[in-house]
Amino acid sequence: MTKPLEAPQDGTVSALLEENRIFKPSDSFRSKALLQDERIYKEAEANRENFWSDQAKKLDWYQPWDKILEWKTPFAKWFLNGKLNASYNCLDRHMKTDRKNKTAIIWEGEPGEVRKLTYEDLYHETNKFANVLKSLGVRKGDRIAIYMPMIPEAAMAMLASARIGAIHTVVFGGFSPESLKDRINDAGAKLLITADGGWRRGKIIGLKDLSDEAVKACPTIENILVVKRLEDQDTQMKDGRDHWYHDLKEKVADYCEPEQMDSEDILFTLYTSGTTGKPKGIIHTTGGYMTGVTTTMKLVFDLQEDDVFWCTADVGWVTGHSYIVYGPMANGVTQIMYEGAPDWPKRDRFWSIIEKYGVTKFYTAPTAIRAFMKWGHQWPQKHDLSSLRLLGSVGEPINPEAWIWYHKHIGSEQCPIVDTWWQTETGCILITPLPGITDLKPGSATRPFPGIEAKVFKEDGTVIKEGGGYLGLTSPWPSMLRGIWGDEERYKQQYWSKWPNIYFTGDGAKIDADGYYWLLGRVDDVINIAGHRLGTMEVESALVDHTSVAESAVVGISDEIKGTAIAAFVILKDGHTAGDEMDKTLKQHVVKKIGAIARPSKIIFTEDLPKTRSGKIMRRLLRDIAEGRALGDVTTLADASILESLKEKYQEE
Ligand code: WTA
Repeated sequence: MTKPLEAPQDGTVSALLEENRIFKPSDSFRSKALLQDERIYKEAEANRENFWSDQAKKLDWYQPWDKILEWKTPFAKWFLNGKLNASYNCLDRHMKTDRKNKTAIIWEGEPGEVRKLTYEDLYHETNKFANVLKSLGVRKGDRIAIYMPMIPEAAMAMLASARIGAIHTVVFGGFSPESLKDRINDAGAKLLITADGGWRRGKIIGLKDLSDEAVKACPTIENILVVKRLEDQDTQMKDGRDHWYHDLKEKVADYCEPEQMDSEDILFTLYTSGTTGKPKGIIHTTGGYMTGVTTTMKLVFDLQEDDVFWCTADVGWVTGHSYIVYGPMANGVTQIMYEGAPDWPKRDRFWSIIEKYGVTKFYTAPTAIRAFMKWGHQWPQKHDLSSLRLLGSVGEPINPEAWIWYHKHIGSEQCPIVDTWWQTETGCILITPLPGITDLKPGSATRPFPGIEAKVFKEDGTVIKEGGGYLGLTSPWPSMLRGIWGDEERYKQQYWSKWPNIYFTGDGAKIDADGYYWLLGRVDDVINIAGHRLGTMEVESALVDHTSVAESAVVGISDEIKGTAIAAFVILKDGHTAGDEMDKTLKQHVVKKIGAIARPSKIIFTEDLPKTRSGKIMRRLLRDIAEGRALGDVTTLADASILESLKEKYQEE
């Protein structure tokens, strides 16, 4: 389970897990696998640049590159002067093959509607969508914000944006209008694409209303394009600003010539949480990103032409970008897209979808697996899951217990599990098994993907051969982030200042005697709630934003399902009273400011917080209190008596 870690004094990190079971790929899986032996690791290691350029050649380029890599730390350029288009690679190139008539998306709405789109359908729709964007004045380099439910139009909007060379910024539909506003303003987006609404747990989420709320304070937004997803939804449309997609679609041509993009032109930005301040817009460019996601999609999921792939993420997260939109579509995969919750109307919705469509590869998050475990295996047992050939996990460390349950009750002990470690910043999967090759250890993401170089470091930058420390990446890779939108300094500071020439991931990791990597969770002030990243600072700012709050400190605490949950220590201003009412008000305020994922599970009202003599809050001690652990080193504390009273308060909760 994710646990915030503390570095012991010697600069290493203590490892939490001892797990010795080994699962080898079955003969039946291995015999059909794309990769069956270790050669690929050796070949890639012998010449990483050539390995990646061989992968890049599998994409369609208008113009080949004249140099594979230019690396001026921390700025990388891949496939220099090559020209390509991401939407062309996901759609147009399939029109020349049998994939033209292959199903691209099988979509199920939460209420149960089904839509099936072939690659040709998706191609036509995306062309029209791209022309609609042009008709609204969007041009190459412009930013488009996308705030959508999980419907095929979300993918079309992204591909259409890529087609005309605009830069999309997808904002998760569960985020609040405030969060949407901040992202739109940081990106300077001129168009917002949304829908009248979507379904979640039997309720309508009125995305257009939320959008209206957000854009009140977004001076750069010129138009809102609204996709109709619901039937009788009463949607307010502002004349001149708001447009129904289905109206504009009737007025445009069928074909839109894809823009020839430079390999290093920006494909998208995606906001994610960091240790300080507001979320940062992670920049991904076209050639390197497409190379990374297309390659990993194929090899990590051992793609076969008849696969039915299902990634349960939302397109609002990087997993949805890389393994619902760009990775699967560049590979011409048939996939499932599901709009709603796993427990709607009952707790077997996922298993019923797998059975109904014969899903072969299933990719989800540990937090979901832990929930399934808690609900019990009688739910998957009601369904025939024998179509499954491979299972995947992403978003946080998977605890061995959940791994074993997944393996047994979902995979019938027949399916390899790929535990894939990566980040918004890395663009694609970087540490992962290759399912036909790698022996699996439950809880370990195993080894770096071919062409990727990762090491475990002590605080002082020395490499640890065996043991726990911090995970760093020691050579550039094609789909690495190219920066933070509008903040080059922060990019250098955040990722490249810990050790010279090494990318700091923010994660703790252990390497064992076999060279296997065990990810141990974040070591910075980022917390991972149900696989979604949040900065403790963001939640603290949201709390302090409330008129009654003087100060707050937020820490991650262990949670059976979410992995980590939020505990907030709050000091109220004079004249405000702690209690159930205030508890509710503050939780609601955080939801309003950020979104439901940031709702604190616990609020502890206090008169004081443990601080160093220089005034820095000692979150480490708060975590000890919240986890009921013995308190660590308190010698730097200004006033140690605070701790006792806090501990008592916490236990009362
Ligand atoms: C965590 C999600 C352990 C890690 C793709 C990372 C994981 C953060 C794993 C990135 C995994 C992701 N095992 N931890 N298989 N996958 N993480 O940017 O802490 O939303 O730094 O990207 O999730 O979260 P992000």
